[in-house]
Amino acid sequence: MLHQKNLTVNAAGHLAVGGVDTLDLAREYGTPLYVLDEDMVRERMGLYVSAMGRYLPAGSGPYYAGKALCCKALCRMAKEEGMGLDAVSAGELYTALAAGFPPADICLHGNAKTEADIRCAIADRVGLIAADGEEELIRIDRIAGALGARARVLLRVTPGIDPHTFAAVNTGVVDVKFGVPIPTGQALAVTERALGLENIDLAGFHCHIGSQIFDAGPFLLEVDVMTAFLAQVREKTGYTAGILDLGGGFAVAYEEADAAPDCAGMIRAIGQRLEERCQAYGYPAPAVLLEPGRGIVAAAGVTLYTVQNVKDVPGGRRYVALDGGMGDNPRYALYGARHSAVVADRAGEDKTCSVTLAGRCCESGDLIGEDVALQTPRTGDTVAVLTTGAYNYSMASNYNRVPRPPIVALRGGQARLIVRRETLEDVAAYDL
Ligand code: LLP
Repeated sequence: MLHQKNLTVNAAGHLAVGGVDTLDLAREYGTPLYVLDEDMVRERMGLYVSAMGRYLPAGSGPYYAGKALCCKALCRMAKEEGMGLDAVSAGELYTALAAGFPPADICLHGNAKTEADIRCAIADRVGLIAADGEEELIRIDRIAGALGARARVLLRVTPGIDPHTFAAVNTGVVDVKFGVPIPTGQALAVTERALGLENIDLAGFHCHIGSQIFDAGPFLLEVDVMTAFLAQVREKTGYTAGILDLGGGFAVAYEEADAAPDCAGMIRAIGQRLEERCQAYGYPAPAVLLEPGRGIVAAAGVTLYTVQNVKDVPGGRRYVALDGGMGDNPRYALYGARHSAVVADRAGEDKTCSVTLAGRCCESGDLIGEDVALQTPRTGDTVAVLTTGAYNYSMASNYNRVPRPPIVALRGGQARLIVRRETLEDVAAYDL
């Protein structure tokens, strides 16, 4: 029933995360509350670092995708566990640098980087910039020139692969806003252009085929398409790429029925296929970068809410109204993404109800989930929504001027705040 291995039911019958009673956390820090199992985050980071070191060519390694959850503490964890960082804006870059993250281990992404984003990245000497297309390459070249620097760049290409995941995260097909398509011939043309730019060092290529991918299949296809492209580029231009960034996208189990993928096994399969393809082309195997986001933090996160009321609509549904909602977790409202939930007070009981978890915003679409299996809920209960470590805090908003919740991290059974709760003053802080 509790499908994340760090979740247990303690002697009092309460839900515990990493051995810590969630009702104690709710009492001490208030709700809504994001809880992050730091031990699990570090374990996941270590798993990617060691599997990539073991199964992929020298120089390979994971770059934590900060978009999943970015704050200074996460950046420090990534640094300590030996990961690089994929940052997607000057804001994420600023956070990482303020946390002491080494700029050389950062890759700046984004399909619409502003002049300021690029300027920051070059001035701060980030290790890599993933250029999204020809115009951007020219812009990076110009800014680097003006700053008297050189920019180390990956060119983002789209391999034309459909991993059949949900549309909002399906990014490898040709007709998307990201990157330059390989199948249309544009990727090759833009590569030729990049090689001619004075202030650009082309370090290799980047691609990302989507998220929530459960098996190695789509990644192996990605390796096939990308190695064929590398070989074609070398034949046409003589250029050999040192880096192949295959993006993020390893799935996580959001619900009991999902089988969590074997990440190390997927990485091994990618390594084997890369070796085979590189041998076939006589191509020196490039270092591989991966950008796991949710695979690092999603399962480590739980959000605690207090039930404000329970409402049964005759002939209709049972609504369980929570003190949070789309403001702290917009994933159901945006994508229909499903999360399981537990009444933390009686976590050992059977889930005999099917409920709609309703948020507090003045909007009927503000739901955390529908047809969610739950123990019988009562007003005042603490409800835990599971697998919320990724794309919850990072996508949170102040809709209806609701302050955003804090994040408490658990390490070795000890809790500490890593992001404080917003206050009403914070919410109005920018008003003039
Ligand atoms: N690299 C690139 C270039 C990406 O675009 C993404 C995700 C990642 C890495 C990390 O993917 P992950 O390993 O986390 O699946 N808000 C949506 C997800 C949007 C993902 C965008 N890009 C959600 O809540 O599911």
